[in-house]
Amino acid sequence: MSEDLMRYAARMDIRKMGAIMPRRMAHIAQGAPVPPKLDYAANLTAKALHPACQKLTVAEVIEREAGAKSFVLRAKEGCDLARFRAGQFLSFSLEIGGSTVTRAYSLCCPPSWAKQGQYMITVKPSEDGFAGNWICANWTVGTEATASAPLGEFSYTRLRDARHILGVCGGSGVTPFYAMACALAEGSEDFSLTLLYGSRDRESILLGAELAALEKRCERFRLVNVLEDEDGYIDTELLKKYLPEEDCSLFVCGPAAMMRAMEAAIAPLGLPERRIRRKTYGVTEAALETDWPREAAGKTFTLTVKMRDEVFTIPCAAGESVLVAMERAGLEPPSRCRSGECGWCRSRLAAGTVYVPARTEHRRKADLAYGYIHPCCSFPTSDLTLCVGCE
Ligand code: FES
Repeated sequence: MSEDLMRYAARMDIRKMGAIMPRRMAHIAQGAPVPPKLDYAANLTAKALHPACQKLTVAEVIEREAGAKSFVLRAKEGCDLARFRAGQFLSFSLEIGGSTVTRAYSLCCPPSWAKQGQYMITVKPSEDGFAGNWICANWTVGTEATASAPLGEFSYTRLRDARHILGVCGGSGVTPFYAMACALAEGSEDFSLTLLYGSRDRESILLGAELAALEKRCERFRLVNVLEDEDGYIDTELLKKYLPEEDCSLFVCGPAAMMRAMEAAIAPLGLPERRIRRKTYGVTEAALETDWPREAAGKTFTLTVKMRDEVFTIPCAAGESVLVAMERAGLEPPSRCRSGECGWCRSRLAAGTVYVPARTEHRRKADLAYGYIHPCCSFPTSDLTLCVGCE
């Protein structure tokens, strides 16, 4: 095309563009003065699958081993509950002592329960626990609770995971595996699960009888109880013993201390990283991480938080996460998983430095480059300025 012709074509396009606006304005003027329709089937389905929050009521409390309790939660009459995949969790919003905090609890029931309008979670109090102890002491039949939609990637996905899963858990870390075993037994999942379940002694095996019954009912599920006082800890040798020769995914769930020990036990297996899934529950204590900068010990830093057009200046101890410091000050920052995975708490660090344990480092490369942090797993190593909820 000659240059003249190209200039002519460009002019024609501009003329055509000029004619579009009057036509568009005429169409708008003819339109009905009502808001656009939002109740299309796709929108309604998306809302049902991913509700912003769910209002639940405690329908039943079941006493479990070692002081733990299961809470059966029902939807309000006539309301649906969001469906979930075995291994996912709900994040609860709790008002405790004047602060609003969130806590994540794995769904501990067959996925089919959601269709019947109910969920179950199992909570175990502990000596130094906070929210779990409060729930066990305060929730009774009739208590109302607010939870997120089901969240999390600690679940079997056919495209990503091997058809055989070797599960490793300790304490309450058994709850997502319990949901997986239920899903296998009811036939809604088609993988096989061998579960190495570490407990202190026989009396502290959470959901022990229920797991044994599931193993009897379902040949895809195999349970191996590992008792500290009889068998010792789950180590590399034990993992090798139960690791099948065929392709296998390793799912590990437990408290931070166990997860640290498991990293050392897993390394010699040489499994590709894509075959390992981790879920840490409970509080991450920076001081227990081997690479935490010891010079920060005992210090309290100043945290300046810019949130919702306001500026707050609060203290933040070196050993506590930035999220906990904000919650302690009553600020109600956003959060869900509290383990660095979901990105719900993602905020921009405008000034200062933080320590992030390698185990909880799930930020995207762009976030690392542009100074975004996950306050739930970030610990101050200097005074900080944080922008919460701003891009
Ligand atoms: S709450 Fe999920 S990443 Fe912080």
